[in-house]
Amino acid sequence: MKNSLQKEKRDEPRDEADTEKTALLDRRSLLAGTAGIVSAIVMRSVTRSAEAAMLVAPDDPTRVPGAAPTAYGQRSTYEQSVRVPRSWWGSLTPLQDSHGILTPSALHFERHHNGVPVIDPEHHRLMIHGLVAQPWAFTMDDLKRFPATSRLAFIECSGNSAIEWKAPTGQSVQQTHGLTSTSEWTGVALKTVLQEVGVKPDASWILAEGSDAAAMTRSLPLALLIEEALLCYAQNGEPLRPEQGYPLRLLLPGWEGNTCIKWLRRLKFGTAPFMTREETSQYTDLMSDGTARQFTMLMEAKSVITSPSGGQRVQPGFIDIRGLAWSGRGRIAQVEVSTDGGRSWQQAVLQDPILPKCHTRFCLPWRWNGADVILQSRCLDETGYVQPTRAALVAVRGVNSVYHYNAIQSWKIAADGQVSNVHA
Ligand code: CO
Repeated sequence: MKNSLQKEKRDEPRDEADTEKTALLDRRSLLAGTAGIVSAIVMRSVTRSAEAAMLVAPDDPTRVPGAAPTAYGQRSTYEQSVRVPRSWWGSLTPLQDSHGILTPSALHFERHHNGVPVIDPEHHRLMIHGLVAQPWAFTMDDLKRFPATSRLAFIECSGNSAIEWKAPTGQSVQQTHGLTSTSEWTGVALKTVLQEVGVKPDASWILAEGSDAAAMTRSLPLALLIEEALLCYAQNGEPLRPEQGYPLRLLLPGWEGNTCIKWLRRLKFGTAPFMTREETSQYTDLMSDGTARQFTMLMEAKSVITSPSGGQRVQPGFIDIRGLAWSGRGRIAQVEVSTDGGRSWQQAVLQDPILPKCHTRFCLPWRWNGADVILQSRCLDETGYVQPTRAALVAVRGVNSVYHYNAIQSWKIAADGQVSNVHA
């Protein structure tokens, strides 16, 4: 049924008219190859009217029977917010459209190093070995028999906002900050499973390895992670999405996303870091003197105004400034907003719930008088850490880094209402 012509057409960029023609061609060839006697034109019109019924609301929905139940739900066709790709290796969460603190699983940002693997959970194993008394390969069923625990946590790629190191590059908050998301994660505490294998006293580092085509591996300091590490098989009430590590990932709340190894297949216990590619050539922070920081796991406090934000246009008058703040160290204690480029600050309202190592929502009612302004937010976490200005961050780190950019974000509102990214 699939011929080379259709294959070629699928790979080409095409407009909607082309898509319709191709869809017609596909259905026609499908019908010719199977039932033949049914007219492709009739089939097309039936499909069209079904789609139209879903897409267009009736003038009075009380006069038309609604749709039947569905096996797996879809959002309203009026809602179109999507992840946008960040090259071949990932995609960005549309923070500008989000509500509350949870990210829908379908909009959780993605980052993978050699694609999203397809893994049969029946065949998946987690091997725990090295400096343990009883090496073991756990099945998914084994792991699910342990007591389960759930918590909310953000995961942020340490490369989030990397494009902002040298110049104000991101045109929207999705581009500047979209590599962070918050989910409810469910699994078994790592320390519960470790009681079964018996970690030897001299073990101090773990090598965690994924079963993707990159065999992603990171070395993790045992003492720092042991209290909160979760072997996670569910997200927002259902099994992990494939792009989030199905069927098993490590969750290290507050640590850089890359350490939360997805498609987790192995934990090896040793006495020193294993010096893998992803902690030597990658995921290090090059300083201006040419040295590099290594094993920088913690995600420092960060905030960003999501509305108004880059690419949006606003009108003079009342504007509810809204945004998100989060800290790998714990709870957000305070967020302040400046509407004059950082000269003065007003305390924003934090919206419940305020949970440790989760996105926290803030807002500040404001009236825009129509003059050029620069909006900023800065957060303070419960440990007293204050989000730095760009100048303060660059003074310490230089501009050679890729990772761990958490400076205050500036959005300029021009007199015409257009919002854009600036470094101020
Ligand atoms: Co790091």
